[in-house]
Amino acid sequence: MKAESAPSQDATRWWQAATGYQIYPRSFCDSNGDGVGDIAGIISKLDHLRDLGIGFIWLSPVYESPMADNGYDISDYRAIAPEFGTLADFDRLVAEARERGIRIVMDLVVNHSSSAHPWFRAASASRQAPEHDYYIWRDPAADGGPPGRHRASFGGPAWHWVPQVGRYYFGQFSPEQPDLNWDNPALRRQIYQMMNWWLDRGIGGFRLDVISMIGKDVDAEIYEEGPRLHTYLQEMHREAFAGRDIVTVGESWAVSPETALLYCGRDRGELDMMFQFAHVVAGWHPELGKWGTPPPFDLRRFKRVFNQWQAVMAEDGWNSLFLSNHDLPRQVSVYGDDGEFRVASAKMLATVMHLMKGTPFVYQGEEIGMTNAHFERIDQLRDVEALGHYADQIANGVTPEEFMAGVNANGRDNARTPMQWTDGPQAGFTTGTPWLEVNRNHGTVNVAADRADPDGIFEHYRRLIALRRDMPIVVHGAYRPFAEDHRAVFAYARELDGRRIGVVANFTRDPVEFDVPEGLAMTGRCLISNARARQALSGRLSLAPFEAFAILSGDG
Ligand code: GLC
Ligand code: CA
Repeated sequence: MKAESAPSQDATRWWQAATGYQIYPRSFCDSNGDGVGDIAGIISKLDHLRDLGIGFIWLSPVYESPMADNGYDISDYRAIAPEFGTLADFDRLVAEARERGIRIVMDLVVNHSSSAHPWFRAASASRQAPEHDYYIWRDPAADGGPPGRHRASFGGPAWHWVPQVGRYYFGQFSPEQPDLNWDNPALRRQIYQMMNWWLDRGIGGFRLDVISMIGKDVDAEIYEEGPRLHTYLQEMHREAFAGRDIVTVGESWAVSPETALLYCGRDRGELDMMFQFAHVVAGWHPELGKWGTPPPFDLRRFKRVFNQWQAVMAEDGWNSLFLSNHDLPRQVSVYGDDGEFRVASAKMLATVMHLMKGTPFVYQGEEIGMTNAHFERIDQLRDVEALGHYADQIANGVTPEEFMAGVNANGRDNARTPMQWTDGPQAGFTTGTPWLEVNRNHGTVNVAADRADPDGIFEHYRRLIALRRDMPIVVHGAYRPFAEDHRAVFAYARELDGRRIGVVANFTRDPVEFDVPEGLAMTGRCLISNARARQALSGRLSLAPFEAFAILSGDG
Protein backbone atom coordinates (compact mmCIF):
# COMPACT_ATOMS: atom_id res chain seq x y z
CA MET A 1 0.00 0.00 0.00
CA LYS A 2 1.31 3.43 -0.85
CA ALA A 3 1.35 6.00 1.93
CA GLU A 4 -1.11 8.91 1.73
CA SER A 5 1.51 11.55 1.13
CA ALA A 6 5.25 11.94 0.86
CA PRO A 7 7.08 13.00 4.03
CA SER A 8 7.94 16.68 4.17
CA GLN A 9 11.16 17.63 2.43
CA ASP A 10 12.39 19.67 5.39
CA ALA A 11 12.09 16.89 7.92
CA THR A 12 15.08 14.65 8.47
CA ARG A 13 14.53 11.42 6.60
CA TRP A 14 15.19 8.28 8.63
CA TRP A 15 18.05 7.21 6.39
CA GLN A 16 19.91 10.48 6.95
CA ALA A 17 20.41 9.85 10.66
CA ALA A 18 20.83 6.11 10.24
CA THR A 19 23.86 4.02 9.40
CA GLY A 20 23.62 1.19 6.88
CA TYR A 21 25.25 -2.23 7.19
CA GLN A 22 25.92 -4.37 4.15
CA ILE A 23 25.47 -8.12 4.37
CA TYR A 24 26.92 -10.40 1.73
CA PRO A 25 24.69 -13.35 2.59
CA ARG A 26 26.94 -16.06 1.24
CA SER A 27 29.66 -15.07 3.71
CA PHE A 28 27.82 -13.87 6.80
CA CYS A 29 26.54 -16.85 8.76
CA ASP A 30 25.74 -20.42 7.73
CA SER A 31 22.91 -21.97 9.77
CA ASN A 32 22.88 -25.49 8.29
CA GLY A 33 26.49 -26.47 7.70
CA ASP A 34 26.48 -26.48 3.89
CA GLY A 35 29.29 -23.92 3.87
CA VAL A 36 27.13 -21.13 2.45
CA GLY A 37 25.68 -18.33 4.55
CA ASP A 38 21.88 -18.03 4.57
CA ILE A 39 18.90 -16.00 5.77
CA ALA A 40 18.41 -18.07 8.92
CA GLY A 41 22.05 -17.33 9.72
CA ILE A 42 21.44 -13.60 9.31
CA ILE A 43 18.43 -13.76 11.62
CA SER A 44 20.55 -15.49 14.25
CA LYS A 45 22.96 -12.54 14.21
CA LEU A 46 20.49 -9.64 14.25
CA ASP A 47 21.27 -8.87 17.88
CA HIS A 48 24.86 -8.14 16.89
CA LEU A 49 23.55 -5.51 14.48
CA ARG A 50 21.04 -4.10 16.96
CA ASP A 51 23.88 -3.66 19.46
CA LEU A 52 25.91 -1.86 16.81
CA GLY A 53 22.98 0.53 16.37
CA ILE A 54 22.54 0.41 12.62
CA GLY A 55 19.27 1.57 11.05
CA PHE A 56 19.14 -0.62 7.98
CA ILE A 57 20.73 -3.57 6.25
CA TRP A 58 21.76 -3.45 2.59
CA LEU A 59 21.26 -7.08 1.72
CA SER A 60 23.25 -8.27 -1.30
CA PRO A 61 21.05 -10.34 -3.66
CA VAL A 62 19.20 -13.34 -2.21
CA TYR A 63 16.99 -13.98 -5.26
CA GLU A 64 16.95 -17.25 -7.15
CA SER A 65 20.12 -17.44 -9.21
CA PRO A 66 22.57 -19.90 -10.74
CA MET A 67 25.20 -17.88 -8.82
CA ALA A 68 27.54 -17.18 -11.72
CA ASP A 69 28.17 -13.87 -9.94
CA ASN A 70 26.94 -14.91 -6.49
CA GLY A 71 23.40 -13.66 -7.03
CA TYR A 72 24.09 -10.61 -9.20
CA ASP A 73 22.62 -12.85 -11.90
CA ILE A 74 18.94 -13.21 -11.04
CA SER A 75 16.85 -15.99 -12.62
CA ASP A 76 13.64 -15.29 -10.69
CA TYR A 77 13.04 -11.82 -9.29
CA ARG A 78 10.26 -13.02 -7.00
CA ALA A 79 11.88 -16.06 -5.41
CA ILE A 80 14.64 -16.64 -2.87
CA ALA A 81 17.58 -18.87 -3.82
CA PRO A 82 17.09 -22.23 -2.05
CA GLU A 83 20.62 -22.10 -0.63
CA PHE A 84 19.68 -18.87 1.15
CA GLY A 85 16.23 -20.01 2.31
CA THR A 86 12.60 -19.37 1.40
CA LEU A 87 10.29 -16.41 0.99
CA ALA A 88 8.95 -17.24 4.46
CA ASP A 89 12.50 -16.94 5.83
CA PHE A 90 12.83 -13.61 4.09
CA ASP A 91 9.56 -12.31 5.55
CA ARG A 92 10.74 -13.45 8.96
CA LEU A 93 13.99 -11.54 8.45
CA VAL A 94 12.05 -8.35 7.65
CA ALA A 95 9.86 -8.81 10.73
CA GLU A 96 12.67 -9.75 13.13
CA ALA A 97 14.78 -6.88 11.90
CA ARG A 98 11.89 -4.45 12.29
CA GLU A 99 11.51 -5.54 15.94
CA ARG A 100 15.08 -4.37 16.42
CA GLY A 101 14.54 -1.06 14.63
CA ILE A 102 16.32 -2.25 11.48
CA ARG A 103 14.96 -2.05 7.92
CA ILE A 104 15.93 -4.33 5.07
CA VAL A 105 17.11 -2.63 1.88
CA MET A 106 17.31 -5.13 -0.95
CA ASP A 107 20.01 -5.16 -3.57
CA LEU A 108 18.33 -5.30 -6.97
CA VAL A 109 19.99 -6.03 -10.29
CA VAL A 110 17.94 -4.73 -13.21
CA ASN A 111 20.64 -3.78 -15.69
CA HIS A 112 20.83 -7.47 -16.53
CA SER A 113 19.23 -10.77 -15.57
CA SER A 114 20.65 -14.25 -15.46
CA SER A 115 20.85 -16.16 -18.72
CA ALA A 116 18.81 -18.79 -16.83
CA HIS A 117 15.88 -16.37 -16.43
CA PRO A 118 12.77 -17.65 -18.29
CA TRP A 119 12.72 -14.35 -20.19
CA PHE A 120 16.16 -15.02 -21.60
CA ARG A 121 15.36 -18.66 -22.34
CA ALA A 122 12.35 -17.54 -24.38
CA ALA A 123 14.33 -14.67 -25.92
CA SER A 124 17.08 -16.93 -27.15
CA ALA A 125 14.75 -19.61 -28.47
CA SER A 126 12.90 -17.46 -30.98
CA ARG A 127 13.03 -14.00 -32.49
CA GLN A 128 9.24 -14.04 -32.44
CA ALA A 129 8.95 -14.44 -28.66
CA PRO A 130 7.77 -11.23 -27.00
CA GLU A 131 10.69 -11.61 -24.57
CA HIS A 132 13.22 -11.51 -27.41
CA ASP A 133 13.13 -7.73 -27.28
CA TYR A 134 13.65 -7.73 -23.47
CA TYR A 135 17.34 -8.14 -24.28
CA ILE A 136 19.79 -6.35 -26.57
CA TRP A 137 20.31 -8.28 -29.83
CA ARG A 138 22.19 -7.30 -32.96
CA ASP A 139 22.79 -9.11 -36.23
CA PRO A 140 26.33 -10.22 -37.05
CA ALA A 141 28.67 -7.75 -38.71
CA ALA A 142 29.29 -8.09 -42.49
CA ASP A 143 32.10 -10.59 -41.82
CA GLY A 144 29.78 -12.68 -39.64
CA GLY A 145 31.60 -11.63 -36.49
CA PRO A 146 30.22 -9.73 -33.50
CA PRO A 147 28.53 -6.35 -34.10
CA GLY A 148 31.06 -4.52 -31.92
CA ARG A 149 34.37 -4.87 -30.12
CA HIS A 150 33.28 -3.78 -26.68
CA ARG A 151 34.89 -5.85 -23.89
CA ALA A 152 32.96 -7.28 -20.96
CA SER A 153 33.70 -6.16 -17.41
CA PHE A 154 34.56 -9.71 -16.40
CA GLY A 155 36.88 -10.36 -19.37
CA GLY A 156 36.32 -11.41 -22.98
CA PRO A 157 34.00 -9.83 -25.54
CA ALA A 158 30.65 -8.31 -24.56
CA TRP A 159 28.75 -9.74 -27.57
CA HIS A 160 27.69 -13.40 -27.44
CA TRP A 161 26.41 -15.56 -30.30
CA VAL A 162 23.16 -17.54 -30.09
CA PRO A 163 22.79 -19.88 -33.10
CA GLN A 164 19.04 -20.52 -32.53
CA VAL A 165 18.22 -16.91 -33.36
CA GLY A 166 21.29 -16.13 -35.49
CA ARG A 167 22.12 -13.07 -33.44
CA TYR A 168 24.45 -11.73 -30.81
CA TYR A 169 23.27 -10.49 -27.42
CA PHE A 170 24.99 -7.89 -25.29
CA GLY A 171 26.34 -8.79 -21.84
CA GLN A 172 28.39 -6.12 -20.06
CA PHE A 173 29.47 -8.47 -17.28
CA SER A 174 29.71 -12.27 -17.80
CA PRO A 175 27.97 -14.20 -20.62
CA GLU A 176 25.59 -15.47 -17.89
CA GLN A 177 24.42 -11.87 -17.29
CA PRO A 178 22.65 -10.66 -20.47
CA ASP A 179 21.76 -6.95 -20.36
CA LEU A 180 18.08 -6.08 -20.29
CA ASN A 181 16.69 -3.81 -22.99
CA TRP A 182 15.29 -0.86 -21.06
CA ASP A 183 13.90 0.62 -24.25
CA ASN A 184 11.18 -2.03 -24.20
CA PRO A 185 8.15 -0.62 -22.32
CA ALA A 186 6.77 -4.07 -21.44
CA LEU A 187 10.07 -4.98 -19.77
CA ARG A 188 10.03 -1.76 -17.79
CA ARG A 189 6.48 -2.45 -16.65
CA GLN A 190 7.48 -5.90 -15.45
CA ILE A 191 10.37 -4.43 -13.46
CA TYR A 192 8.23 -1.78 -11.78
CA GLN A 193 5.55 -4.34 -10.88
CA MET A 194 8.20 -6.53 -9.31
CA MET A 195 9.62 -3.59 -7.35
CA ASN A 196 6.17 -2.80 -5.98
CA TRP A 197 5.70 -6.44 -5.06
CA TRP A 198 8.79 -6.30 -2.81
CA LEU A 199 8.04 -2.86 -1.43
CA ASP A 200 4.54 -4.03 -0.48
CA ARG A 201 6.18 -6.81 1.58
CA GLY A 202 7.54 -4.07 3.82
CA ILE A 203 11.14 -3.67 2.78
CA GLY A 204 12.97 -0.39 3.41
CA GLY A 205 14.08 0.29 -0.15
CA PHE A 206 16.54 -0.77 -2.81
CA ARG A 207 20.22 -0.59 -3.64
CA LEU A 208 20.20 -0.52 -7.42
CA ASP A 209 23.10 -2.35 -9.02
CA VAL A 210 25.07 -0.52 -11.77
CA ILE A 211 22.03 1.66 -12.32
CA SER A 212 23.83 4.21 -14.53
CA MET A 213 24.00 1.52 -17.23
CA ILE A 214 20.27 1.37 -17.95
CA GLY A 215 19.28 3.54 -20.89
CA LYS A 216 22.51 2.74 -22.73
CA ASP A 217 22.91 3.14 -26.49
CA VAL A 218 25.09 0.26 -27.71
CA ASP A 219 25.03 1.46 -31.33
CA ALA A 220 26.52 4.78 -30.28
CA GLU A 221 28.87 2.84 -27.95
CA ILE A 222 27.48 4.68 -24.93
CA TYR A 223 27.31 2.20 -22.08
CA GLU A 224 27.20 4.51 -19.08
CA GLU A 225 24.89 7.45 -18.39
CA GLY A 226 23.19 6.94 -21.74
CA PRO A 227 20.63 9.25 -23.32
CA ARG A 228 17.56 7.69 -21.70
CA LEU A 229 18.91 7.01 -18.22
CA HIS A 230 17.16 9.81 -16.37
CA THR A 231 13.90 9.37 -18.23
CA TYR A 232 13.79 5.78 -16.98
CA LEU A 233 14.83 6.66 -13.43
CA GLN A 234 12.07 9.26 -13.24
CA GLU A 235 9.57 6.75 -14.55
CA MET A 236 10.81 4.17 -12.02
CA HIS A 237 10.36 6.71 -9.24
CA ARG A 238 6.81 7.54 -10.34
CA GLU A 239 5.84 3.90 -10.79
CA ALA A 240 7.44 2.37 -7.71
CA PHE A 241 9.05 4.75 -5.20
CA ALA A 242 6.87 7.87 -5.00
CA GLY A 243 4.92 8.32 -1.76
CA ARG A 244 6.76 5.56 0.08
CA ASP A 245 9.00 6.13 3.07
CA ILE A 246 11.93 4.18 1.65
CA VAL A 247 15.54 4.77 0.68
CA THR A 248 16.97 4.23 -2.79
CA VAL A 249 20.70 4.09 -3.46
CA GLY A 250 22.08 3.80 -6.97
CA GLU A 251 25.45 2.24 -7.68
CA SER A 252 27.56 3.85 -10.41
CA TRP A 253 31.19 3.74 -11.42
CA ALA A 254 30.49 6.53 -13.92
CA VAL A 255 28.66 9.18 -11.90
CA SER A 256 30.77 12.32 -11.54
CA PRO A 257 30.53 15.53 -9.54
CA GLU A 258 29.01 17.04 -12.69
CA THR A 259 26.23 14.44 -13.03
CA ALA A 260 25.60 13.45 -9.40
CA LEU A 261 22.69 15.79 -8.75
CA LEU A 262 20.87 14.54 -11.83
CA TYR A 263 20.32 11.29 -9.91
CA CYS A 264 19.74 12.54 -6.40
CA GLY A 265 18.82 16.22 -6.55
CA ARG A 266 15.82 16.81 -4.32
CA ASP A 267 13.49 17.89 -7.11
CA ARG A 268 14.60 15.32 -9.68
CA GLY A 269 12.27 12.55 -8.51
CA GLU A 270 14.87 9.82 -9.08
CA LEU A 271 16.99 8.36 -6.26
CA ASP A 272 18.01 9.38 -2.73
CA MET A 273 21.75 8.89 -3.07
CA MET A 274 24.50 7.28 -5.11
CA PHE A 275 27.40 5.00 -4.41
CA GLN A 276 30.30 6.61 -6.28
CA PHE A 277 33.87 5.29 -6.50
CA ALA A 278 36.13 8.22 -7.31
CA HIS A 279 38.14 7.62 -4.11
CA VAL A 280 38.60 3.97 -5.07
CA VAL A 281 39.69 4.61 -8.65
CA ALA A 282 42.04 7.40 -7.46
CA GLY A 283 44.07 4.70 -5.67
CA TRP A 284 44.49 2.36 -8.65
CA HIS A 285 47.49 1.92 -10.90
CA PRO A 286 47.29 4.78 -13.45
CA GLU A 287 47.58 2.50 -16.51
CA LEU A 288 46.80 -1.04 -15.38
CA GLY A 289 43.77 -0.06 -13.27
CA LYS A 290 42.63 -2.49 -10.62
CA TRP A 291 44.84 -5.39 -11.74
CA GLY A 292 48.11 -3.51 -11.34
CA THR A 293 50.01 -3.16 -8.07
CA PRO A 294 48.66 0.11 -6.66
CA PRO A 295 50.98 3.10 -6.16
CA PRO A 296 51.57 4.23 -2.56
CA PHE A 297 48.49 5.74 -0.92
CA ASP A 298 48.18 9.46 -1.68
CA LEU A 299 46.22 11.17 1.07
CA ARG A 300 46.03 14.51 -0.73
CA ARG A 301 44.31 12.94 -3.70
CA PHE A 302 41.99 11.00 -1.38
CA LYS A 303 41.01 14.19 0.45
CA ARG A 304 40.43 16.05 -2.81
CA VAL A 305 37.82 13.47 -3.80
CA PHE A 306 35.90 13.57 -0.51
CA ASN A 307 36.15 17.33 -0.15
CA GLN A 308 34.81 17.75 -3.66
CA TRP A 309 31.88 15.37 -3.13
CA GLN A 310 31.02 17.04 0.17
CA ALA A 311 30.93 20.38 -1.68
CA VAL A 312 28.76 19.00 -4.49
CA MET A 313 26.16 17.79 -1.99
CA ALA A 314 26.36 20.81 0.31
CA GLU A 315 22.89 22.17 -0.49
CA ASP A 316 21.18 19.45 -2.47
CA GLY A 317 21.41 15.70 -2.92
CA TRP A 318 22.95 13.41 -0.32
CA ASN A 319 26.24 11.51 -0.06
CA SER A 320 26.81 7.88 0.78
CA LEU A 321 29.94 7.36 2.87
CA PHE A 322 31.94 4.15 2.52
CA LEU A 323 35.38 2.71 1.89
CA SER A 324 34.37 -0.96 1.72
CA ASN A 325 31.88 -3.26 0.08
CA HIS A 326 31.73 -6.74 -1.44
CA ASP A 327 33.57 -5.56 -4.58
CA LEU A 328 36.45 -3.82 -2.81
CA PRO A 329 39.43 -4.90 -0.74
CA ARG A 330 39.24 -4.48 3.04
CA GLN A 331 39.62 -0.83 4.04
CA VAL A 332 42.06 -1.36 6.88
CA SER A 333 44.41 -3.14 4.44
CA VAL A 334 44.15 -0.40 1.80
CA TYR A 335 43.99 2.89 3.69
CA GLY A 336 45.19 1.84 7.14
CA ASP A 337 47.58 -0.77 8.48
CA ASP A 338 46.52 -4.40 8.82
CA GLY A 339 49.53 -5.27 11.02
CA GLU A 340 50.75 -3.46 14.11
CA PHE A 341 48.26 -0.58 13.88
CA ARG A 342 45.21 -2.55 12.76
CA VAL A 343 42.98 -1.48 15.64
CA ALA A 344 44.08 2.16 15.71
CA SER A 345 43.83 2.59 11.95
CA ALA A 346 40.44 0.85 11.70
CA LYS A 347 39.07 3.29 14.27
CA MET A 348 40.75 6.24 12.56
CA LEU A 349 39.16 5.43 9.19
CA ALA A 350 35.75 5.02 10.79
CA THR A 351 36.05 8.34 12.62
CA VAL A 352 36.86 10.23 9.42
CA MET A 353 34.09 8.60 7.38
CA HIS A 354 31.27 8.60 9.95
CA LEU A 355 31.55 12.25 10.87
CA MET A 356 31.23 13.55 7.32
CA LYS A 357 27.86 14.61 5.92
CA GLY A 358 26.02 11.70 4.33
CA THR A 359 24.88 8.19 5.21
CA PRO A 360 27.69 5.84 6.29
CA PHE A 361 27.71 2.20 5.20
CA VAL A 362 29.57 -0.45 7.17
CA TYR A 363 30.50 -3.62 5.30
CA GLN A 364 30.26 -6.85 7.31
CA GLY A 365 33.43 -7.45 9.33
CA GLU A 366 34.57 -3.85 8.98
CA GLU A 367 33.27 -3.24 12.52
CA ILE A 368 35.91 -5.64 13.87
CA GLY A 369 38.69 -4.58 11.49
CA MET A 370 38.72 -7.61 9.19
CA THR A 371 41.64 -7.58 6.73
CA ASN A 372 42.47 -8.70 3.20
CA ALA A 373 42.82 -12.42 2.61
CA HIS A 374 46.31 -12.90 1.08
CA PHE A 375 45.64 -15.56 -1.54
CA GLU A 376 48.55 -17.64 -2.80
CA ARG A 377 46.98 -19.71 -5.58
CA ILE A 378 44.41 -19.16 -8.30
CA ASP A 379 42.46 -22.19 -7.08
CA GLN A 380 41.72 -20.34 -3.82
CA LEU A 381 39.75 -17.71 -5.77
CA ARG A 382 36.01 -17.95 -6.43
CA ASP A 383 35.20 -14.58 -7.99
CA VAL A 384 33.92 -14.60 -11.58
CA GLU A 385 35.65 -11.27 -12.18
CA ALA A 386 39.13 -12.42 -11.12
CA LEU A 387 38.80 -15.79 -12.84
CA GLY A 388 37.38 -14.16 -15.98
CA HIS A 389 40.23 -11.66 -16.15
CA TYR A 390 42.94 -14.22 -15.60
CA ALA A 391 42.89 -15.44 -19.20
CA ASP A 392 42.81 -11.87 -20.56
CA GLN A 393 45.68 -10.72 -18.39
CA ILE A 394 47.90 -13.72 -19.13
CA ALA A 395 47.22 -13.20 -22.84
CA ASN A 396 48.37 -9.59 -22.35
CA GLY A 397 51.71 -10.81 -21.01
CA VAL A 398 50.99 -10.43 -17.30
CA THR A 399 52.70 -13.20 -15.29
CA PRO A 400 50.65 -15.32 -12.88
CA GLU A 401 52.67 -13.79 -10.00
CA GLU A 402 51.80 -10.25 -11.09
CA PHE A 403 48.19 -11.24 -11.49
CA MET A 404 48.06 -12.63 -7.94
CA ALA A 405 49.63 -9.39 -6.68
CA GLY A 406 46.78 -7.48 -8.33
CA VAL A 407 44.19 -9.88 -6.89
CA ASN A 408 45.65 -9.54 -3.42
CA ALA A 409 45.56 -5.75 -3.68
CA ASN A 410 42.16 -5.27 -5.29
CA GLY A 411 40.39 -8.62 -5.81
CA ARG A 412 36.80 -8.93 -4.66
CA ASP A 413 37.31 -12.19 -2.76
CA ASN A 414 39.25 -10.19 -0.15
CA ALA A 415 35.97 -8.88 1.18
CA ARG A 416 34.08 -12.13 0.72
CA THR A 417 35.96 -14.43 3.07
CA PRO A 418 33.58 -15.64 5.78
CA MET A 419 32.64 -13.35 8.64
CA GLN A 420 34.85 -14.09 11.64
CA TRP A 421 32.58 -14.66 14.64
CA THR A 422 34.86 -16.65 16.96
CA ASP A 423 38.36 -18.09 17.22
CA GLY A 424 36.88 -21.60 16.79
CA PRO A 425 36.85 -23.84 13.69
CA GLN A 426 35.98 -21.91 10.51
CA ALA A 427 35.66 -18.78 12.65
CA GLY A 428 32.22 -19.90 13.78
CA PHE A 429 30.87 -19.15 10.30
CA THR A 430 29.95 -22.75 9.47
CA THR A 431 30.16 -26.26 10.88
CA GLY A 432 30.95 -27.48 7.36
CA THR A 433 33.47 -26.48 4.71
CA PRO A 434 33.13 -22.81 3.76
CA TRP A 435 32.66 -21.95 0.08
CA LEU A 436 35.68 -19.62 0.33
CA GLU A 437 38.50 -20.14 2.84
CA VAL A 438 38.35 -18.36 6.17
CA ASN A 439 41.07 -15.75 6.73
CA ARG A 440 43.93 -17.26 8.73
CA ASN A 441 43.87 -14.42 11.23
CA HIS A 442 40.51 -15.39 12.72
CA GLY A 443 42.23 -16.57 15.90
CA THR A 444 42.83 -12.93 16.81
CA VAL A 445 40.40 -11.02 14.57
CA ASN A 446 36.88 -12.10 15.49
CA VAL A 447 33.63 -10.69 16.85
CA ALA A 448 33.82 -12.45 20.21
CA ALA A 449 37.29 -11.12 21.01
CA ASP A 450 36.67 -7.61 19.73
CA ARG A 451 33.36 -7.20 21.53
CA ALA A 452 34.86 -8.46 24.79
CA ASP A 453 37.28 -5.51 24.66
CA PRO A 454 35.85 -2.20 25.91
CA ASP A 455 38.43 -0.52 23.65
CA GLY A 456 37.54 -2.72 20.69
CA ILE A 457 36.78 -1.55 17.19
CA PHE A 458 33.12 -2.56 17.53
CA GLU A 459 32.69 -0.24 20.51
CA HIS A 460 34.23 2.63 18.53
CA TYR A 461 31.78 2.04 15.66
CA ARG A 462 28.89 1.76 18.09
CA ARG A 463 29.73 5.17 19.52
CA LEU A 464 30.12 6.80 16.08
CA ILE A 465 26.77 5.39 14.95
CA ALA A 466 25.12 6.69 18.13
CA LEU A 467 26.59 10.18 17.58
CA ARG A 468 24.93 10.37 14.18
CA ARG A 469 21.63 9.07 15.53
CA ASP A 470 21.62 11.54 18.43
CA MET A 471 23.21 14.71 17.05
CA PRO A 472 21.65 16.82 14.30
CA ILE A 473 25.03 18.48 13.70
CA VAL A 474 26.46 15.13 12.54
CA VAL A 475 23.54 14.71 10.16
CA HIS A 476 23.11 18.26 8.87
CA GLY A 477 26.17 20.31 9.85
CA ALA A 478 27.93 22.14 7.01
CA TYR A 479 31.25 20.56 6.04
CA ARG A 480 34.45 22.63 5.93
CA PRO A 481 37.78 21.08 4.90
CA PHE A 482 41.07 22.22 6.40
CA ALA A 483 44.77 21.56 5.72
CA GLU A 484 43.87 20.27 2.26
CA ASP A 485 47.50 20.03 1.16
CA HIS A 486 48.76 18.25 4.25
CA ARG A 487 50.28 14.89 3.33
CA ALA A 488 49.52 13.06 6.57
CA VAL A 489 46.50 14.65 8.23
CA PHE A 490 42.81 14.71 7.28
CA ALA A 491 41.07 17.61 9.04
CA TYR A 492 37.60 19.07 8.76
CA ALA A 493 34.87 20.82 10.69
CA ARG A 494 31.10 20.44 10.78
CA GLU A 495 29.02 23.47 11.72
CA LEU A 496 25.40 23.94 12.70
CA ASP A 497 23.61 26.68 14.64
CA GLY A 498 26.73 28.03 16.35
CA ARG A 499 28.03 24.60 17.31
CA ARG A 500 31.01 22.99 15.77
CA ILE A 501 32.73 19.63 15.50
CA GLY A 502 36.44 19.50 14.63
CA VAL A 503 37.84 16.23 13.27
CA VAL A 504 41.56 15.49 12.96
CA ALA A 505 43.14 12.22 11.79
CA ASN A 506 46.71 11.08 11.19
CA PHE A 507 46.70 8.73 8.19
CA THR A 508 50.26 7.46 8.71
CA ARG A 509 52.13 4.95 10.85
CA ASP A 510 54.44 7.73 12.07
CA PRO A 511 53.87 10.33 14.76
CA VAL A 512 53.05 13.70 13.17
CA GLU A 513 53.46 17.26 14.38
CA PHE A 514 50.37 19.06 13.15
CA ASP A 515 49.99 22.84 13.21
CA VAL A 516 46.26 23.37 13.60
CA PRO A 517 45.07 25.90 11.01
CA GLU A 518 43.72 29.06 12.55
CA GLY A 519 40.19 28.59 11.28
CA LEU A 520 39.96 25.13 12.83
CA ALA A 521 41.23 26.10 16.31
CA MET A 522 38.72 25.38 19.09
CA THR A 523 38.29 23.90 22.52
CA GLY A 524 35.44 21.78 23.76
CA ARG A 525 34.35 18.31 24.70
CA CYS A 526 35.98 15.22 23.22
CA LEU A 527 33.28 13.35 21.30
CA ILE A 528 35.41 10.38 20.33
CA SER A 529 39.05 9.40 20.11
CA ASN A 530 41.14 6.32 19.39
CA ALA A 531 43.96 7.54 21.64
CA ARG A 532 43.85 10.00 24.54
CA ALA A 533 40.84 12.26 25.08
CA ARG A 534 41.55 15.76 23.81
CA GLN A 535 39.73 18.97 24.67
CA ALA A 536 41.83 21.39 22.64
CA LEU A 537 42.42 21.74 18.95
CA SER A 538 45.02 24.50 18.67
CA GLY A 539 48.70 25.29 18.25
CA ARG A 540 51.01 22.39 17.45
CA LEU A 541 49.60 18.93 18.15
CA SER A 542 51.71 15.79 18.42
CA LEU A 543 49.59 13.10 16.85
CA ALA A 544 50.25 9.43 17.52
CA PRO A 545 50.32 6.98 14.57
CA PHE A 546 46.79 6.80 13.13
CA GLU A 547 45.45 8.99 15.92
CA ALA A 548 41.97 10.39 15.27
CA PHE A 549 39.61 12.39 17.42
CA ALA A 550 36.68 14.78 17.29
CA ILE A 551 35.87 17.72 19.54
CA LEU A 552 32.52 19.46 19.98
CA SER A 553 32.40 23.13 20.86
CA GLY A 554 29.38 25.28 21.63
CA ASP A 555 26.54 24.49 23.99
CA GLY A 556 25.60 20.93 24.73
C1 GLC B 1 27.85 -4.40 -9.28
C2 GLC B 1 27.95 -5.34 -8.11
C3 GLC B 1 28.94 -6.41 -8.43
C4 GLC B 1 28.44 -7.17 -9.63
C5 GLC B 1 28.19 -6.23 -10.82
C6 GLC B 1 27.38 -6.91 -11.87
O1 GLC B 1 29.03 -3.70 -9.49
O2 GLC B 1 28.26 -4.64 -6.94
O3 GLC B 1 29.15 -7.30 -7.36
O4 GLC B 1 29.36 -8.15 -10.01
O5 GLC B 1 27.47 -5.09 -10.43
O6 GLC B 1 26.08 -7.15 -11.41
CA1 CA C 1 23.73 -22.54 4.63
